[in-house]
Amino acid sequence: MRSIKSIAIATALCASVAAPAQAAEDFKVGLILPFSGVYGGLGGEIARAFELGLEVFGGEVNGRKIVLVKEDTEGKPNTGLAKTKKLIHSDKVDVLVGPVSSGVLAAMRDTVHNSQTPFVIANAGHDGISGSKCSPWFVRTSFSNRQIVRPMGQWMYDQGHRNIYLMAPDYAAGHQMMGHFKAGFEAAGGKIIGEEYPPLQGTKDYAPYLAKVKAAKPDALFVFFAGGAAIQFVKSFGDFNIGKDIPLTGAGWLTSPLYIKKQGEGANNIIGSANYVTTIDNAANKQFHAAFKAKHDRGGSEFGVQGYDSARVIVEALQAVNGNTSDKAAFMDAIRNVSFDGPRGKLRFDPINGNIIQHIYVYKNVKKEGVIGPEVYDIIKDVKVPSDGCNS
Ligand code: PHB
Repeated sequence: MRSIKSIAIATALCASVAAPAQAAEDFKVGLILPFSGVYGGLGGEIARAFELGLEVFGGEVNGRKIVLVKEDTEGKPNTGLAKTKKLIHSDKVDVLVGPVSSGVLAAMRDTVHNSQTPFVIANAGHDGISGSKCSPWFVRTSFSNRQIVRPMGQWMYDQGHRNIYLMAPDYAAGHQMMGHFKAGFEAAGGKIIGEEYPPLQGTKDYAPYLAKVKAAKPDALFVFFAGGAAIQFVKSFGDFNIGKDIPLTGAGWLTSPLYIKKQGEGANNIIGSANYVTTIDNAANKQFHAAFKAKHDRGGSEFGVQGYDSARVIVEALQAVNGNTSDKAAFMDAIRNVSFDGPRGKLRFDPINGNIIQHIYVYKNVKKEGVIGPEVYDIIKDVKVPSDGCNS
């Protein structure tokens, strides 16, 4: 007779042979973006395109399902920091993606660095992250503030402008972008004859600022505004009716495809510099637009491309480590080494500061058959940003 003990062992062995393999743990992505406030529309677009990217490039790697945990920064540094801590310490996300605002990025930087959490920056351009505040735990699929506007200083001078007025919201990105434009423009020989910095949240009427611009009679106005602020600013500019005397130029988000239709006549003739235009002629860009249109009944935008590319970077890095992220440094290394042909052409990261290297497009909005839209008229190729002070 077999003993109870031997039967028990045999049963246990059978059970262990028959038991299904333990399901691999989900891979958690924390989307830390503004879903409300002046940049709420931009956060929504990045999230939408990130989700699309997972559908196109694969939402599961080696049995690990990629799941999203979304948190709203509201575009506010304190809220962004609190939500970042929650995602890292309570939700235990494997990677973070976001934010939109440079101010929010600056606030969360030390928490991310000290907790060694892989981070894919999908918009915020704060220059410190590519310089003295760089960290091996970040890559940036979007841009640095300097990258977008610095080349425009020389470019505007070459177009014959000599006296320029500046305007941007009063926070990190506004001051950094105007500072870089000014440095490039002055080095070329131009002069900045006035600067205005209205509050980022809550400025409803730009007329008082535009009155000062009008009185100063500059050759051109160079600005940075995005999202809700850009919609409001361009409307005010159109209403003020100074465009025929003072050309409106600036960082390209001034008239994103995401909101140009809401901006009215003020959007016509604007000159902008951008890291993406919808008309880039390559297979990946066509695929992006077709997929976006099939799902959302409209084309994608520059914010969308950043979300879509961020998803692909994460999927490809996860594939490179066979779904195993227990060695966070190895996973981060895989992220930094991702390179592919995307909607913006070859995507690759600067090996020192982790910032994307990319072309900058200079476009002008023109009206054709009643519709205002951008036409590219210059491309500044392979713009890298200096890693000054970055010892990552
Ligand atoms: C930023 O704060 O870095 C920022 C926000 C919106 C943009 C570009 C840059 O469109």
